[in-house]
Amino acid sequence: MDKPVRIAIIPGDGVGGEVMAEALPCLDWARAGGRDIQTLSLPYGAGHYLATGETLPEAAFADLRDGCDAILFGAVGDPRIPDGRHAEEILLQLRQGLELTVNFRPCHSPLPGHAPDLDIEVFRENTEGPYCLQGSTEPGRAVDLAIHTEPAVRRLLLAAFKRAATRKRPLTLAHKANVLKHGHGLWVRVFEELRRDHPEVASQGMHADALLCALVQNPTAFGVIAADNYLGDLISDLCAAYIGGMGVAPSISWAPHRPFRCSALAEPVHGSAPDIAGKGWANPVGMILSTALLFRYLGWEVEAIALEGAVSAALESGAKTRDLEGTLSTAAMGKAIRDRLL
Ligand code: NAD
Ligand code: IPM
Ligand code: MN
Repeated sequence: MDKPVRIAIIPGDGVGGEVMAEALPCLDWARAGGRDIQTLSLPYGAGHYLATGETLPEAAFADLRDGCDAILFGAVGDPRIPDGRHAEEILLQLRQGLELTVNFRPCHSPLPGHAPDLDIEVFRENTEGPYCLQGSTEPGRAVDLAIHTEPAVRRLLLAAFKRAATRKRPLTLAHKANVLKHGHGLWVRVFEELRRDHPEVASQGMHADALLCALVQNPTAFGVIAADNYLGDLISDLCAAYIGGMGVAPSISWAPHRPFRCSALAEPVHGSAPDIAGKGWANPVGMILSTALLFRYLGWEVEAIALEGAVSAALESGAKTRDLEGTLSTAAMGKAIRDRLL
């Protein structure tokens, strides 16, 4: 018998809860197929913060870290908390505190007829760079520090090389080492070292500005794209546009060095979408495909393929939410996908 897998569920804010409601039945489906899944539902988000003053309490973080295997996350962000303080303390604490260095954001089109040959996978470093949140605002001057460390850079790049080698795809490092001589200089140094160890991978470094132009002009020329936290954030949203937009892009983060029991967090690329929250318009595809990535991470390849297949089949049948010029509600789209789960 496999050991039970314990998954923490954090719906978060805005459409986070709406799309999570469509992912949870996918866990039930995996359970019905024999997977031993336990879930731990956690209330952290704007509502909880405004009611209690708590973001992600230390004890809850420690429980997650030591008592769960993975996290399924919706989104955080709420207009009532304009400085995003709770989002920072919840999401960034999870990414950084669990050392989830590798953020994997695949952009393979699930949409029929939409960028059919696109096969881009963004490997975004997920814990460092300007996200170290160190800086200051002074009269007439503002500072944001960006910290890059060799272990994290190496972990991210190794994961990217490994993926490019396995899938026989080209690898591009996005950087601005021509300006960010220290931080991105480190990225280029480690990248050049790993290139020598991986002659089987067609790899190159590119200045991120030129890369973005090439990415728009010729997206199918790219395979794996590795980037620091900041550039990876931007590049992955651009790539999401090729496959149908924010509503469909999935992601998963993991800690290759496994410092803790809890070593993965799956979440859609999109945020809490306050402009459509509460209307039933959110597309659950990004969340459901993130759930499939979590299944694959857990070694449940059959379930991952079935879920991805159900999403493609639903979209091919014309089932679509408003962001894709369809008419279905979030719940109806979730059901259309589940109806096609074999
Ligand atoms: P967003 O991703 O929330 O929304 C951008 C656009 O995409 C909006 O027009 C929105 O309606 C649309 N969109 C997003 N998700 C969608 C879905 N599932 N279906 C259909 N359309 C969808 O980005 P934003 O507006 O810049 O940020 C809103 C809040 O979310 C902010 O507080 C931001 O900090 C936060 N945010 C959180 C995460 C996260 O939790 N991982 C990610 C990005 C942004
Ligand atoms: C994302 C988001 C987050 C980020 C924000 C909400 C902190 O944009 O998950 O891509 O910048 O990483
Ligand atoms: Mn982002």
